[in-house]
This record gives sequence, C-alpha cells and structure tokens, in this order.
Amino acid sequence: MSKEESTFKFGHPMRSQFLLDNDYIPLNHGSYGTIPKVVQEAFREYQDKMETNPDKFFRRDLELELCKAREAVAKFINAETNEVVFVQNTTTGINSVLKSLKYEEGDKLLYFSTVYAAIGSLLEYIHEIYEGKVELIKIEVNYPISDDDLIDKFVKVIEEEKQKPNTKIKLAVIDAISSTPGVIVPFQRMISILRQNNILSVVDGAHAIGQIPLNIKEIEPDFFATNCHKWLYTPKSSAILYVPYKHQKKIHPSVTSLYLHEGFVSEFSWIGTQDFGSFLAIHAALEFRKKIGGEEKIQNYCKKLAIEGGNLISSILGTEIIGPESIIQSMVNIRLPIPTSNEEFTDKKFMDLMFNKYNFAVLVFKHNKYWYIRASAQIYTDLNDFEKVGYIVKEICDSFK
Ligand SMILES: Cc1ncc(COP(=O)(O)O)c(C=O)c1O
Repeated sequence: MSKEESTFKFGHPMRSQFLLDNDYIPLNHGSYGTIPKVVQEAFREYQDKMETNPDKFFRRDLELELCKAREAVAKFINAETNEVVFVQNTTTGINSVLKSLKYEEGDKLLYFSTVYAAIGSLLEYIHEIYEGKVELIKIEVNYPISDDDLIDKFVKVIEEEKQKPNTKIKLAVIDAISSTPGVIVPFQRMISILRQNNILSVVDGAHAIGQIPLNIKEIEPDFFATNCHKWLYTPKSSAILYVPYKHQKKIHPSVTSLYLHEGFVSEFSWIGTQDFGSFLAIHAALEFRKKIGGEEKIQNYCKKLAIEGGNLISSILGTEIIGPESIIQSMVNIRLPIPTSNEEFTDKKFMDLMFNKYNFAVLVFKHNKYWYIRASAQIYTDLNDFEKVGYIVKEICDSFK
C-alpha cells in the first residue's frame, strides 16, 4: 500500500485527517458535521484574506469568489449556477422560501410528523401570522413503515383534500432524509406526485448533499435546501438553496439587505456583513472528497458501516434497527430496550453520561413509544467504534432498568 493510500484508508487511519479528539467516539456526524484539516486550512486562508485587506476582499474579490463557489456546488448537484445561492443553513433557506410565498385564505401546508422541529416551528409561525387562514395538515408517520405505505398515506391525504371546497394544498414540506429517525424518505416519488397535483414541493434536504447522490435536473423540486456543513465537510455555517428560474422572482432572503430588486442571486449574495469563508471553502471540501476516492467510495463505506454497525449495536442491546436497509444511508436508528413510559430515563440524563462519563456521541430521541439512538457512520469511524458504543449504551440502559 502506498503512503497516500494508507493515509486515505477509511476508518481509524482517517482520523488523522480530521480534528476530532483521540479518545472521543464520534457517532453523531449527522447533527453538526465536522471538517477535515485541509478544509479548516482553506477556511482560515479566506479569513486571512478578509482580515489582511478587508476592503479589497469585500469590494473586489468576494463577488467572483462566491460565483466560483456557487458554480462548483451547482455542478456537484447538476443544477444551473444561477439557480443556486448560499445561505447559512437549511433553517434559513426554508425560512426564506416559506416566508416569501404569499398565501390566500383556504391555502393548506402539508407536512409529516417527522418534520425537523425548527421547520415545524416555521410552519406554525406561518399559520399564526396568517391568523389561522392558512391551515396546516400533518401526516402522522411511525417507523417502521415501508416506502409504499408512506406514499399511500401521502396520496390518500392529497386525494381527500381535493374533495373539499374552497381550499387547496399550496405546498408540502418533505424531507430528503429525515432527522429522527434518520432515514431516506422517498422524496423523488413525493415530488412527482406533488407536481401532478399542482402542489409546490419544498424539500428539506438538510442531510442530503454529500450523503446521497443528488441530481437536481432529475429530481425537479420547486425548492431544495441542503446543508453543506453536515455531510459535505464544509465549515459551519454553509448551506445552499436551490430555486429554479421560474420561481426566483417571488423568493427573497429572510433578511432584507442591500440588493433588493437586483435579482435572486444578488439579493442572496449579501444579507449584511458576515464571514463568507465557510461558503468559499467548498472547493477544498470537494477536492478532499475526490482525493480520498470520490462520492461512491464514501457512500458505499458509510452505508455498509451504518448497517453493520447498527445491527451490531442492536444485537448487543437485544433490540432491532429501523429498516429496511434501502432507507439507511449513513445514519442508523437503533431501538433502546427502554419504553418512553419509563420516566426515570431522560435524554438529558443520557447525554450527561455520554459527555461526562463515557465521551462518545450519538443522538438520542423518542419515536413510536420507544427511545432510540441515531448513530452516524463516517469515513473516520469503523465497526469497532459501533461495538464500543453498543456496550456503553447497554450499560447506560441497564442502569435505568
Ligand atoms: C431534517 C433537518 N432539517 C433541518 C435541519 C436544520 O439544520 P440547520 O440547523 O443547519 O439549519 C436539521 C438539522 O439537523 C435536520 O436534521
């Protein structure tokens, strides 16, 4: 094996490329992501450029640099450069879309009970500022559920709503990969159903870019926001918002600033002074991903590890993972042997032990009458990490029985 090959071998050898503490077991990449050292270096170089000559950086260089960064990320998802803008995070991107659209009495907004809490709050806010004239329709989902059953539920609600007078579903917010549980949602099928029914699709793709392949020209969503700082290895906070040309006139950043009326790309290019380094460092992240073997290699490693690791933890706990395997990519959800009726067990207590006693990370959450953990596979983790976490989590669970 050449030196370069061994440096980029996935699993523990990859830890040297990242900044993570040595004795920490990081199985929660899904929440915040983390960056390779080379990306941090590139990020800091942009900060140096910004601080050594701020005027030149902001007045001369920034526009071109931002355009090059948009070009690179747009190419990565097969979108047009001018249909993609940077936003700080997915929450901001979805806020911009939902707050820009105009609603009429009788309009309804469709979403799933698995919606990310911040986006759930945003929907509630739209309902409140329109003084109840805009209604929310929630589809309850409890996993495990097959993609076909999920689609059936979705279609049933849309068909039922079509029968009602003086009302219409204006848009649906759907996840590409939901947060809790962390599973792939059949979003492409949902988007085409929405299109056939003249309902706008707003995709919360917070976990999508870098975790699953994205081809925007094939997916054809009306709106798509995705965090580069989670699975693509860019610094926090960097995300993109895709808005096709046909919708751009109606969409504005959630913060109004200098370039109002100067077009979609210009408006989003400036929402006030900020550190743009996290957007510009995208080149370094994309280059790193190529150098270590490319998208397919990363995705295959993570999927295999998530499935094997999840099964290993569930066998240690005597429970099961949420399947089928087709809905698992880099995150796996493992049921804890603790029902939510056990009031002794709380996520706070679990996290206190996780941080203060054992030094590992997973996401702990309630779903469908049970506590679960969500464990993330990454190129810097291996089966041994999952095994260690399995035994630690067993010890924690046993202490609550
Ligand atoms: C499905 C989903 N949507 C939105 C978000 C929000 O991401 P951010 O805080 O970066 O806006 C998250 C964060 O984990 C998420 O899991």
